[in-house]
Amino acid sequence: MCEALDAASKAEVEEISSRIELSDEIALTFIRDGALVLLREQARRKLLGSDEELPGSAAVLTVGSKSSPERGRMSGYREIVKLLAANTGAKRMSEVFDNFVEMAALALRNAVDVRGSEAWEAREGQYLQIAGRYSRTELDRFVHALALVTTEMEREPCDVLGRLYMELELGNERLGQYYTPYDIAQLMAEMQIDSVVEQVQRDGFANVYEPSCGAGAFMVALSQAMLEHGLNPQTQLHVTAEDIAPQAMHMIYVQLTLLHIPAVVRRRDVLTLEAFKSWPAPAHVLGGWGRKLRLARAVNGSRRLIITMPQGTTEKPTDALEVQR
Ligand SMILES: C[S@@+](CC[C@H](N)C(=O)[O-])C[C@H]1O[C@@H](n2cnc3c(N)ncnc32)[C@H](O)[C@@H]1O
Repeated sequence: MCEALDAASKAEVEEISSRIELSDEIALTFIRDGALVLLREQARRKLLGSDEELPGSAAVLTVGSKSSPERGRMSGYREIVKLLAANTGAKRMSEVFDNFVEMAALALRNAVDVRGSEAWEAREGQYLQIAGRYSRTELDRFVHALALVTTEMEREPCDVLGRLYMELELGNERLGQYYTPYDIAQLMAEMQIDSVVEQVQRDGFANVYEPSCGAGAFMVALSQAMLEHGLNPQTQLHVTAEDIAPQAMHMIYVQLTLLHIPAVVRRRDVLTLEAFKSWPAPAHVLGGWGRKLRLARAVNGSRRLIITMPQGTTEKPTDALEVQR
């Protein structure tokens, strides 16, 4: 895979990994898997018609290209449904869809973890276990479907997977899985954008938490609203999103990853607070957001300590800023 990277991509990987102080191991994983230039590289391979096998989870990351001759012949959505339906056989569509989004999420998650670590191996095992239920042709259909999701997200970012999930009537009634239509999510994002702009002006980025996030319609809409207001969601937004349903976690993880939005996605019951999984998105890892968030928490904590006036004192809060200097 490393050999498949062009010189510009290699230079990009090296430059970025040194700039954000990635550990050698993680940088190596990136260089080996081409994860950092994943979409561009895989699109290039598709264009060149390379049929070289990719090992394990890297295989599902093969995505299509904007200029594919397939494009335009059939709407992306209809084509994705057709591909998934062709994979059903004796399986139900819900199982095929869950397997599809889980494999995509596992592959993307493993691209930004230390290759060979216990967690990486466990995810790779899970990926291979799911892949083992499908033939080579069926796996190729998943690859093609992910390529189409990627190009749909690129053409017009929206809740591609959530819309598919609803249109295929896969929502679980018991969990209240009725996802918000994307135009409503856009409206809600527009209503929140002023407070997001304010947060960015004050803290340098907006830190947003969404419990029961579903496939992430609202977060996708918010990222697009930020762009319309001259902000960059790839550097000025951090999302923490939670949902109890595994497929919701996988869908939002894939979508935020494709938009390169820094995020931590958790599978968690927001009522009992029982936690199952917590995955940082590639933009979180690459952007050093763990450190950024710790620093922001420390700054905000100090700000509160300093600005809160002790009981009975007559000092003005602004004096505290002097202390801070
Ligand atoms: C009505 S949907 C809303 C999803 C998303 N916020 C949207 O607007 O599209 C409710 C979501 O809550 C999730 N959910 C249900 N019970 C939950 C719980 N106890 N903890 C976390 N998430 C839960 C479901 O899986 C579902 O994705």
